[in-house]
Amino acid sequence: MSVSKPLPHDAAQLHVTGAARYVDDIPSPAGTLHLAFGLSPIARGHITGMHLHDVQHSPGVAAVLTARGLPFSNDVSPSIHDEPLLAAGTVNYVGQPVFMVVADSHRNARIAARRGRVDYAEEPALLTLDAALAADSRFEEGPRIYAKGDAAAAIDAAPRKVEGSFELGGQEHFYLEGQAAMAWPQEDGGMLVFSSTQHPTEIQHKVAEAIGLPMHAVRVETRRMGGGFGGKESQGNALAVACAVAARLTGRPCKMRYDRDDDMVITGKRHAFRISYRAGFDEDGHLQGVEFLQLADCGWAQDLSLPVADRAMLHADNAYLIPSIRIESHRLRTNRQSATAYRGFGGPQGMIGIERVMDHIAHDLGMDPAELRQRNYYAAPAEAKPDNTTPYGMEVTDFELHGMTADLLRSSDYAARKAAIAEWNKGQTHLKRGIAFSPVKFGISFTLTHLNQAGALVHVYQDGSVHLNHGGTEMGQGLFQKVAQVAASRFGIPLEKVKITATDTGKVPNTSATAASSGSDLNGMAVKAACDTIRDRMAEHLALQHQASPGDVVFEGGQVRIGQDEMTFDQAVMSCYQGRVSLSATGFYKTPKVEWDRIKGQGRPFYYFAYGAAVTEVVVDALSGENRILRCDILHDAGASLNPALDIGQIEGGYVQGAGWLTTEELVWDEAGRLRTHAPSTYKIPACSDRPDVFNVALYDGRNREDTIYRSKAVGEPPFMLGISAWLALSDAVSAFGDTYPALNAPATAEEVWRAIRGVRDGI
Ligand code: MTE
Ligand code: MOS
Repeated sequence: MSVSKPLPHDAAQLHVTGAARYVDDIPSPAGTLHLAFGLSPIARGHITGMHLHDVQHSPGVAAVLTARGLPFSNDVSPSIHDEPLLAAGTVNYVGQPVFMVVADSHRNARIAARRGRVDYAEEPALLTLDAALAADSRFEEGPRIYAKGDAAAAIDAAPRKVEGSFELGGQEHFYLEGQAAMAWPQEDGGMLVFSSTQHPTEIQHKVAEAIGLPMHAVRVETRRMGGGFGGKESQGNALAVACAVAARLTGRPCKMRYDRDDDMVITGKRHAFRISYRAGFDEDGHLQGVEFLQLADCGWAQDLSLPVADRAMLHADNAYLIPSIRIESHRLRTNRQSATAYRGFGGPQGMIGIERVMDHIAHDLGMDPAELRQRNYYAAPAEAKPDNTTPYGMEVTDFELHGMTADLLRSSDYAARKAAIAEWNKGQTHLKRGIAFSPVKFGISFTLTHLNQAGALVHVYQDGSVHLNHGGTEMGQGLFQKVAQVAASRFGIPLEKVKITATDTGKVPNTSATAASSGSDLNGMAVKAACDTIRDRMAEHLALQHQASPGDVVFEGGQVRIGQDEMTFDQAVMSCYQGRVSLSATGFYKTPKVEWDRIKGQGRPFYYFAYGAAVTEVVVDALSGENRILRCDILHDAGASLNPALDIGQIEGGYVQGAGWLTTEELVWDEAGRLRTHAPSTYKIPACSDRPDVFNVALYDGRNREDTIYRSKAVGEPPFMLGISAWLALSDAVSAFGDTYPALNAPATAEEVWRAIRGVRDGI
């Protein structure tokens, strides 16, 4: 069976040879025009005048558009219509598109865009969380609060307490392929759009709105993205809409791609947070009550900030059964890029809060942090516990971490290495090592319940070859290959017989974004349903022909057996075709059991949880703050893996990206609100040389307790949060320089580590 084989990515060869076609590689039709935006140089103000004469007369320019020239709607927001394509009257961040240029080449469009002069009446910008709080600048009225028990009373009554606060930076997606789109006007006034997007249906919707046509007149195709990571859930809207508007106006195909610097300056990033906490516990380290204050920097527009901030709240417990807890979340509006989805979708920000608390308590008690964590875990399914519910009232019935933790601590030799590190540190003045264990429990499903649906379209041709299509998008994660493996397995045929095709709103409608790690769960099931419909029709026909019952027809090894008779799959298909059996079907799936009230903070937002555990060892240098990850051991739960090679790739990549967020990836804005880190020269993502010298990744041998596709689990986002162990290991190493608990912020850049070491040494 094709499922569960460690096959390579379906396009691996195309990726490495450069033959893979991304949007900008699609050969342009004759007469294609190119777009560029003119950007706001200020963080907040009113537009008082526009002088675009020089832009209009710049070489190769075909058209220049401002908000006033847009024919229908001026909105690219994925949520509440608060995000104009082109600034209308006011600007709200440095980098906001103010006008757009349509020219005969990418270069000419960019040159012309630089020639615009716009006058502004500047207003004071809100550039920090404190400024936004003081101005009560926020999305949603007041904070959102989820609670279980009376946390304040529990903390006050507890024998011991810790409290603290730390800053958590945002993160640039740094997909290798930047944002790109092309729109091609069709003979009937319709629009064909190619977009590097995780959400083709939303592109279709926003384009239709912008050019005043019904959705049926817009078709969106996406073969692949060169990385999305959440940055292409909504951030591609502006380019696709701009291209469609310009294409409609000029009657010519239009294309737009952001240069890397523009991409970083214009598009939203991960939400930066400040997390404050107060925790009460007993002498044995059992948590009694925890309070969190989460301040989220949402940037200037709402985008996906509410569900992101909700998910941060929903992961404030991580793996721990906390008797009383209160989580207060503020969604603050600032004059920065509008923060957006990023791998984990708020989960990482929520989870790191409680991991910091665990670390702080262990330091306070002088207890081994891994031991402390295990003491506070949710109960395993076999152990009966009267209360095993999350702060939002969902019972945890699939908790795998007890066994996984024991296995990982053993396989990584945690206890012995921890002792050896302590010994080694005694002999060092400037260098110290640190080690940390951290677990992950990540909820799988969209918290907006209706998004948990998917469709598929499968054709079997008369020669026995299969055409596969579904609503999921491919961004490098290997979704297409996994789903093709499902299709091949349903028909019992080799994978080569299954043709993977581009996501296309004309084939499967009304799709959700490929997000929340649910791509293979949802689309795998939808494809299974479509294949099974065809297979059942075939079985019925073949059974009739061979005087057998449909239940006796078996599809396996490229053959079809009907009782004693056997034929190839191709022969069976030909027989069905000649017998006038329909060999094409749609499939549909909706996730069962989920229901959620986000205002009350109660229900079952997740179908199940995915688990993981990591141990990271680091070394820091007190003179420079420089640090390295020396070793990382991971045990991750992908259920019964659909493809262990791709899953391990997701785990390795997720960990490194998570560790990058918390170590070297620093976003710096100046006092005027300009992003100063807008290129790889100033923004440092992990390089190959930054990955751990020793990197042991294993899959936990388990099946999903819920009935998912072949009992697999979602794997796209959960491993990202294993990177928290790298940050905790740095904190552990810093703590070796003194007695006080390190006040480490994230990202723990060399400067931050240096600062924290000074703090610990001087007892600050
Ligand atoms: N892996 C690669 N190579 N590229 C990506 O852009 N995106 C991540 C994750 N893994 C991403 C990736 C994010 S944010 C999500 S939500 C999931 O993949 C989406 O795909 P899935 O639902 O099929 O796992
Ligand atoms: Mo992923 S942040 O849900 O696209």
